[in-house]
Amino acid sequence: MAVPDHVLTNVELTTMVDTSEEWILQRTGIAERRIAGEGETTFTLSLQAARAALDVADLDPASLDLIIVATVTPDHAFPATACLIQDALGAGSAAAFDLSAGCSGFVYGMAMAADLIAAGSYRKALVIGAETLSRITDYTDRTTCILFGDGAGAVVLQASDTPGGVLSSRLGSDGSGGDLLILPGGGSAQPATVDTVTRRMHYIHMQGRPVFRFATRVMAEASRQVLDRAGLQIEDVALFVPHQANDRILQAAARGLGVAEERMFSNLARYGNTSSASIPIALCEAAEQGRIRRNDLIVCVGFGAGLTWAAATIRWTSPLPVPVPSRRMTFRRSLRYRWARLRSLWRRLYRRIDARLFQILYDSHGRRKRRGR
Ligand code: ACO
Repeated sequence: MAVPDHVLTNVELTTMVDTSEEWILQRTGIAERRIAGEGETTFTLSLQAARAALDVADLDPASLDLIIVATVTPDHAFPATACLIQDALGAGSAAAFDLSAGCSGFVYGMAMAADLIAAGSYRKALVIGAETLSRITDYTDRTTCILFGDGAGAVVLQASDTPGGVLSSRLGSDGSGGDLLILPGGGSAQPATVDTVTRRMHYIHMQGRPVFRFATRVMAEASRQVLDRAGLQIEDVALFVPHQANDRILQAAARGLGVAEERMFSNLARYGNTSSASIPIALCEAAEQGRIRRNDLIVCVGFGAGLTWAAATIRWTSPLPVPVPSRRMTFRRSLRYRWARLRSLWRRLYRRIDARLFQILYDSHGRRKRRGR
């Protein structure tokens, strides 16, 4: 995982909008969130998280054949942030794409990667959930700006003969709720103009109450469905790792499932809602804190813009605590990253030379120019 250093506290928010420390903490469970600094983007956070995940998996990035970045705040509409990651990691010519499914994005990505691996199409996949929501948050809107933060988390999925890993998934959507949580400006419906900027259409617009009601219902429902699919019971689950949106939503989900609140992992207080990044960040911290042990059954469950929801059951088969990566592989990866940078520079330079030579040697129809003409 990777989060920016800069912390935005509830006290600081009280100087920006008409709110109070107590209101935010009591109604959401959030005490602070991380905010990207200058030069920090979804790509840079993704890259940090990706490198950390490759260290944990002790894997050469060149062996990756699939990269998915789940995000609603990509660096650009295109190229995909996943392609920037492929280039920066030196991940061969891995398939790479971004996935937009709101806060359910990471579980969507993980489920897709697991299914593609199970189908035999790919062997090693990197799935990242990453956001810089601060760039689309309206810090004059007290109903949204208290909620969101920035960060990234990443996992490596690999084909294996050992039973376990992602056992089942359930992905869903209800587009009739699309207007409840929307970034209205900047797309083909409302391209960026002075008017869209003046009307603050490039910020998150949310109707909190209906989203809240939807979330409390769907979290428990999706968790039950995904357990059913795997032929497992709620009692089999060691830990639920839910999307971190609001502590009251987590409490309602725990009540709906009939489990103690301690079985719902929460780090909401320190990071707020980081959308696609919240589940992989929570997974990472749960593993680091010893809340997940080898062979434990985990349920990841999320909901978000779309409206979407997603749940997955995971049998955690990789070693915990995380073993120290081998020095040989660490050295190899550091060489790979340097080489990737050189490769990228060379390819850019080569394209420029190639374009210049083409201009000199060929006419506008692509026919070779004759000498003396
Ligand atoms: N400080 C003080 N008062 C506030 C604030 C604030 N920051 N925000 C709202 N209020 C006021 C409202 O104006 C309202 O006042 P009124 O009764 O005079 O009209 C009152 O508090 C209650 O407002 P509600 O909206 O009913 O507050 P609620 O308890 O629902 O909490 C919240 C609001 C926190 C936004 C909640 O609805 C929520 O968490 N919703 C779900 C949001 C969510 O999970 N989004 C997911 C995003 S996922 C993605 O894809 C990005």
